[in-house]
Amino acid sequence: MMRRKNVTKRPLPKHIAIVLDGNGRWAKKRGLPRTAGHQRGAQNLERIAVFASQLGIGVMSVYAFSTENWQRPQAEVDYLMKMPKLFEDEYEEAFRASDIKVVFSGRRDRLSKENIDLLKRVEEESKDRQGMVLNVCLDYGGRDEIVRAIDTLKNHEEPIDEATLGAALDTGALPPVDLLIRPGGEQRISNFMLWQAAYAELVFMKTPWPAFSKRHLLKAVANYQKRNRRFGGLKGRA
Ligand code: FPP
Repeated sequence: MMRRKNVTKRPLPKHIAIVLDGNGRWAKKRGLPRTAGHQRGAQNLERIAVFASQLGIGVMSVYAFSTENWQRPQAEVDYLMKMPKLFEDEYEEAFRASDIKVVFSGRRDRLSKENIDLLKRVEEESKDRQGMVLNVCLDYGGRDEIVRAIDTLKNHEEPIDEATLGAALDTGALPPVDLLIRPGGEQRISNFMLWQAAYAELVFMKTPWPAFSKRHLLKAVANYQKRNRRFGGLKGRA
């Protein structure tokens, strides 16, 4: 049995990144439309974000819509693009109560005017909160983010180093990813947090995201805590 206090007495990852995968398969298995999986996935995002903040996690990044997800059937894309509104109407209150600051990463130039305004509004309303940062990645791709960052530096006079490029990313103000969790059974990164997850510990789980519980999060963090992070050095090696 995974106990919360066993996890919280050891050093926690500062930044957890989660690929919200398996919504479609979760729904299909229950004879429901894929969109029902996305809806349940969004509800679960609220629950897990609040729990992560209670544990003392500093930042939680979630992959909600990738730069490649536009290729899905139009009806599914339309449904997913209504998610930010649901997010604001249904979940914002819980985030406020938990002092969670919400930020968004990803491109803003392909979203609707309503969504662009909504993202700005949610960020603005939560900007002074002191609790966990929830970084929702929407029309996000790791490569796209790096290319956009390089573009913003094109008139930079000094040689570009890692700190300069890192700060120009959407996540510029956030610490590197310590733990990357992918539920849903696939074992790949899929263009998520390519720069930020350079030294992240990877945890892959079979459970699809809508069924991912607090217990799964504790299990992933406990798994992380058992690992020996060397960052390319020899620390702790026999
Ligand atoms: C991947 O599962 C999931 C997505 C493409 C969407 C995830 C989005 C949410 C859970 C809601 C996010 C909330 C906001 C605020 C935008 P999949 O459909 O690829 O699952 P499958 O591999 O089983 O088909």
